[in-house]
Amino acid sequence: MAEAPTLRFKHLRGPAPKQRDEQFHTGDERQPIDLEPLASDTVSEEKGGFSRRTFLSGLGATGLLAGATPLGYAAPPVAPAAQETPEATGAASITLRVNGKDYNLRGLDTRATLLDTLRERIHLTGTKKGCDHGQCGACTVHVNGRRVNSCLSFAVMHEGDEITTIEGLGQPDNLHPMQAAFVEHDGYQCGYCTSGQIMSAVALLKEPIGSADDDIKQAMSGNICRCGAYTNIVAAVRQVRQSRS
Ligand code: FES
Ligand code: FES
Repeated sequence: MAEAPTLRFKHLRGPAPKQRDEQFHTGDERQPIDLEPLASDTVSEEKGGFSRRTFLSGLGATGLLAGATPLGYAAPPVAPAAQETPEATGAASITLRVNGKDYNLRGLDTRATLLDTLRERIHLTGTKKGCDHGQCGACTVHVNGRRVNSCLSFAVMHEGDEITTIEGLGQPDNLHPMQAAFVEHDGYQCGYCTSGQIMSAVALLKEPIGSADDDIKQAMSGNICRCGAYTNIVAAVRQVRQSRS
């Protein structure tokens, strides 16, 4: 066994060497002890000990090695990036027919909704985005004559369809009868929901619903008006329905 601990813990030592020798040793069996000065934190590594500096250096080296690439390991070669074709990036080229006019759309994100495509690619902003979750009806358009929440429908699904927005319903000097009735009955306040309300009301004219106001309210329940213009909206729809019966 090495005797280094005897040197290290000087304060725990028993009697002085001379005194101890006198107690436990006699004659030639005594061995000389090579006393070295007790340095602050060193015990020579030649004697099998560790210094604080040695210990901390070891920790640092261990940390470095932990993050190092194992010897003999070579990273696999990185494959060159595939060429970004429209198909590879999820884009499509389609033609949408909106308000009687064809729009060729190149590089259209296949995840784009009909609503976003109408507003941001074709720049028909009369169709509004309210909730973007199919709950308010502000985005209502006609697809082949039927009302659709355009925020819930992908544009790429509608190639070949006949799409109608509020811009295709009437013009300022030639309003659709439903637009004129909304103006006459003051069926709006801020107007944000109005294009969706009118598109729903026009589609409703061809739907098999009853003649009562409650039937109108039920059929229009998917169109929310935060301004609360419901009474006037129903009056406008009732007038147009009666004019056609
Ligand atoms: S924005 Fe489409 S239903 Fe509200
Ligand atoms: S008029 Fe303002 S939300 Fe209907």
